[in-house]
Amino acid sequence: MPGELTMDKLVSLCKRRGFVFQSSEVYGGIGGFWDYGPMGVQLKENIKRAWWKAVVQERPDVVGIDAAIVMNPRVWEASGHIDTFADPMVDCKGCKRRFRADELLEGKHEAESVHGRPIAEAKLGACPECGGELTAPRMFNLMFRTYVGPVEDDASVAYLRPETAQGIFVNFDNVLTSVRKKLPFGIAQVGKAFRNEITPGNFIFRDREFEQMEIEFFVHPGTDEEWHERWIEERFNWWLNLGIRKRKLELREHAAEELSHYSKRTVDIEYEFPFAGFAEIEGIANRTDFDLRRHAEYSGRELTYFDEEKGEHVVPYVIEPSAGVDRAFLTFLIDAYAEEEVRDETRVVLRLHRSLAPVQAAVLPLSRNERLVPPAQQVWELLRPHFMTQYDDAQSIGRRYRRQDEIGTPYCVTVDFDTLKDQDVTIRDRDSMEQARVPIANLIKLLGEKLQK
Ligand code: GAP
Repeated sequence: MPGELTMDKLVSLCKRRGFVFQSSEVYGGIGGFWDYGPMGVQLKENIKRAWWKAVVQERPDVVGIDAAIVMNPRVWEASGHIDTFADPMVDCKGCKRRFRADELLEGKHEAESVHGRPIAEAKLGACPECGGELTAPRMFNLMFRTYVGPVEDDASVAYLRPETAQGIFVNFDNVLTSVRKKLPFGIAQVGKAFRNEITPGNFIFRDREFEQMEIEFFVHPGTDEEWHERWIEERFNWWLNLGIRKRKLELREHAAEELSHYSKRTVDIEYEFPFAGFAEIEGIANRTDFDLRRHAEYSGRELTYFDEEKGEHVVPYVIEPSAGVDRAFLTFLIDAYAEEEVRDETRVVLRLHRSLAPVQAAVLPLSRNERLVPPAQQVWELLRPHFMTQYDDAQSIGRRYRRQDEIGTPYCVTVDFDTLKDQDVTIRDRDSMEQARVPIANLIKLLGEKLQK
């Protein structure tokens, strides 16, 4: 009988099929770090490309950048990360386990509300593992520190960025003068971020190294609330358009005490995960003019926009849609996973959106018969410049279909003995499992059209 998706099943599929591996697994791994395998890197790439297409390519008002991960440490003083980017941490005096104090609180959202703030000891109770006494909570800064240059002293301390956003703020003026954008306009970036999370976990949900896809959208003060609403809708639809089931998505308004130090209002897009219930996959914040003002103050450089109509300089307000690539990856996998009964067998299929599937078409000769291999290889060669493809001739055709279903390949192209006579191949559809004969001469056009849908 087809069963429910569990995280164990998903983690095992990810390893078996080359989506995600534990980082440095041969040495026992390292908590909070993951490697993406041949299927994983392609899925991740496709997610980032779908995002870039929607927010940069198709929009007239957003441009992209790619800033350095290590920045002048003054950036993090100005942004507030040195003072406030910390979580409360407690140790058990008995079993010595370490916990994020906020996770020991009752309600999930109450827990989130203490991010960056001290937490009352009395609320925590005893160690959830052994019932032992807990230490008083201490604030722990989540930024990874490193040294730049050969001398390891206070003057050479630098940080791995905990969000990509700051690379955008400090380049505000560079972008403005180089591409001459008018307000409102946005700057988008995809890149690595690092947080020394106290308790990474739930597979790739909370990592210490991850990627973000962030937009800082600069608007006239006074129009920020309207633009915030627009971006919430825009971003919610992006997830829906890529096939996420609507009933699994939810918008959640941050309570006042939960807002980050820079935020006037934040709305999260949450997905219902099997391990955590509804949890954040993207946050859309109204960051006001906080960051530009702070960087102007700390750098001494003017970070304003000259409004020609009004003849005055303004400090733009910022709407920030910020999504995690790894969390998106997990969301798309979980949402696409299905088990179904087919001819007394359980078929596992990833119903990934066609634009996200790591392999778009697999070429399968019916068997390894010497007459079938050359035409199958030729079909593969024909398709390779146009689509991400795989060639598979190992084991029965049924098992090969199942393997392709498990990685979400939308179409399998089968070369059989009739192909030798009529130059037709069979296209099998992942979702309906229907098969149709098509001439090899039409294959590129046909697959192109199907994959566009
Ligand atoms: N610039 C705003 C910002 O960084 P955030 O809510 O801390 O806001 C934005 O992070 C997104 O980044 C989250 O919605 C989540 O998808 C992702 N993210 C944050 N921390 C993460 C972690 N430790 N592991 C994986 N993804 C994370």
